[in-house]
Amino acid sequence: MTVISLVNQKGGVSKSTTSVHLAYWLIAKKKQKTLLIDADSQRSSSLWVEGMEDVEIPCKVIGSPDDLLEQVPDLAADYDYVIVDGPASLSEATRAILFRSDLAFIPVQPTGVDLRSASDAMRLVKQAQSVRGGLPKAVMFLSRAVKGTKLKDEAIVLLSKNPGAILLNTVIHQKQAIADTSGQSATVWDISGRPASESASEYEKLFKEMLEQLP
Ligand SMILES: Nc1ncnc2c1ncn2[C@@H]1O[C@H](COP(=O)(O)OP(=O)(O)OP(=O)(O)O)[C@@H](O)[C@H]1O
Ligand SMILES: [Mg+2]
Repeated sequence: MTVISLVNQKGGVSKSTTSVHLAYWLIAKKKQKTLLIDADSQRSSSLWVEGMEDVEIPCKVIGSPDDLLEQVPDLAADYDYVIVDGPASLSEATRAILFRSDLAFIPVQPTGVDLRSASDAMRLVKQAQSVRGGLPKAVMFLSRAVKGTKLKDEAIVLLSKNPGAILLNTVIHQKQAIADTSGQSATVWDISGRPASESASEYEKLFKEMLEQLP
């Protein structure tokens, strides 16, 4: 019933990585009936989950804006959650996704260029909100943050430039364990060692905080 979309036209901010980890967490840890929609022509998240062995993540590739607009509501009726992995461009597909989402989950890398790209993504979100009476709710988080950098300053800049969006407290840090997951068709919950379990804790905290924001 609930559609959560990972959007930001900036490439490489972790839309696909977060989508796969969120879908996995909802299915394996929260026992929620969840569908992953891969709306990116690169097909990174669908190829990733196809290779998974322990947990089956239902996945559908839907690239065209018309198909997204038409099919997402029908699909959502059959699931507790639908997670949409958005494309890496400011495209009509992103617009269509925002018209069908309850919550736009926006990963932002805490660097100058990426903070600007978040404002571009927010522009599309606001257009959808003005047509849909406030939906989707905009929720941002800092992703791929490098430990030791001035995250608080970056976060304050991000918030001031994007009124109307909520910035979550949880930060996902840059970690080799996360970078390794897609190549192994795995998630951080499948990888042993302390770095992976630290990342797993960050994701769990992030997802709980995000779900509290659902409209
Ligand atoms: N927290 C992290 N730590 C280390 N590497 C990460 C992290 N998050 C993502 N990555 C890596 O960064 C790269 C980009 O991530 P991902 O593909 O999820 O981004 P994306 O926003 O979906 O990109 P695109 O816009 O191209 O679809 C990948 O190689 C991924 O493994
Ligand atoms: Mg992607």
